Amino acid sequence: MDGDEITIDPWGSAQSTDYDRIIEQFGLTSLDGWPLENPTKLHRRGIVFAHRDLDVVQEAQRTGDGFGVLTGLMPSGQMHMGHSMVVEQVKWFQQQGADVSIAVADLESQATRGIGLEEGRRTALSEYIAHYAAMGLDPEQTQVYFQSTRHAVQRLGFHLGKRTNLSEFEAIYGFNGETNLAHVQAPMVQVGDILHPQMEEFGGLRPVVVPVGVDQDPHLRLTRGLATKTNWFNIKPAPSVGLMISTSVHDENAHVFGRQPNGRLDKNKVAEVFQKIVEAVANLGFSDIISNPKQGHVHVPSATTRDRHGLRMSLLRLERNLGGLGLMAPSSTYHHFAVGLTGSKMSSSQPKTTLFLRDDVATVEKKIKRAFSGSQATVEEHRRLGGNPDIDVAYQYMMYFFEDDDAYLAELNAKYRSGHLLAGEMKQECIERAVAWMSHLGEMRDQTAHLVNDFLAEDSR
Ligand code: TRP
Repeated sequence: MDGDEITIDPWGSAQSTDYDRIIEQFGLTSLDGWPLENPTKLHRRGIVFAHRDLDVVQEAQRTGDGFGVLTGLMPSGQMHMGHSMVVEQVKWFQQQGADVSIAVADLESQATRGIGLEEGRRTALSEYIAHYAAMGLDPEQTQVYFQSTRHAVQRLGFHLGKRTNLSEFEAIYGFNGETNLAHVQAPMVQVGDILHPQMEEFGGLRPVVVPVGVDQDPHLRLTRGLATKTNWFNIKPAPSVGLMISTSVHDENAHVFGRQPNGRLDKNKVAEVFQKIVEAVANLGFSDIISNPKQGHVHVPSATTRDRHGLRMSLLRLERNLGGLGLMAPSSTYHHFAVGLTGSKMSSSQPKTTLFLRDDVATVEKKIKRAFSGSQATVEEHRRLGGNPDIDVAYQYMMYFFEDDDAYLAELNAKYRSGHLLAGEMKQECIERAVAWMSHLGEMRDQTAHLVNDFLAEDSR
């Protein structure tokens, strides 16, 4: 129905898979046709389907400026195939030069799932980080930390709480008067997770990208809004030509602008700040700079959208020099959810719906044999009408997880659709690949077990 709004509940069990509408409603940018270097199978197959500000990351990569990737994990239960998708993407970003931060969301799982901090720590290490290591993350370039022990994360989250309110939480998450406050606090801690790598002691100003499933987008919207609200300088297209920098005076920088109790600003102090903006812009090579402190903006007529990133970075640096946080909104990418083995949602609390990374060969075989298939009711009909790989779980799992070779996958797809390949045969293909994949993972898990502690950040050992 038109006008029907999708709401995304990060803690809920229902997930919308209407990805086109999600893109439209939440203002994501489609990755369809977007240029990516050395894309993973998840990117090549449109499974990672949308982003926010990925171009900012790509620009940092192109110019050799650093960038970070951050993800978080709930240390509860066993890790399953669905979880592996983020690891694959984190590893890919790492290979492109990203430094990696991994938040163990122990505060969140304590508050929302009743998992004690000690238990959370054990599970994080033995189940999650063990698999991150096995899947090939580089411990040298990875910092795993715990929400509960990284005070900067909590402080930043608490501090930024000042820039939002319950109405915004209602709008973003659908909260109401009955909402448990753990669900108010957890997103604020996650805001701290996502933004803190930009602080000087955690790597400093740089783009940070967060690869997630769409269920986490509410947190990203919140975080992006909060980062932007703290900024002292904003860049917009100028009404005529070029770009316009405007200043935003708020509680935290009022003293820098000499704001008096009556709201007036101190002309001399404003002039000083504007002089610094002009210098920052001039340092980027612009000579035509029209500074208008009275109106509160600086116009750079020859600047184009391509200059925006460089301008923004130097203004954030200026903001930091003047005592501000200088935070940039995080970038993000979004992936589709793999279907559960039963054809419904994949869920760790329902073992039949997914493959756990520690399932043994017999279990893997059994689960795939019982998986939902996209075949016709009888073999004869299947031969005549063909099957539907779009809903065939065995095919889907090869596409999402187990088969790297695009050409081979396309062949399976065509043969299934035309009825040449039967559901049982597709399952057999999937079982072979899955068993090989899992056995390899198991071997790697043994080989990398001694590295698990090396993934821990210094404040987390
Ligand atoms: N809320 C996330 C989950 O439910 C975990 C998480 C905590 C996270 N902090 C994060 C994810 C930062 C991405 C980025 O799985």
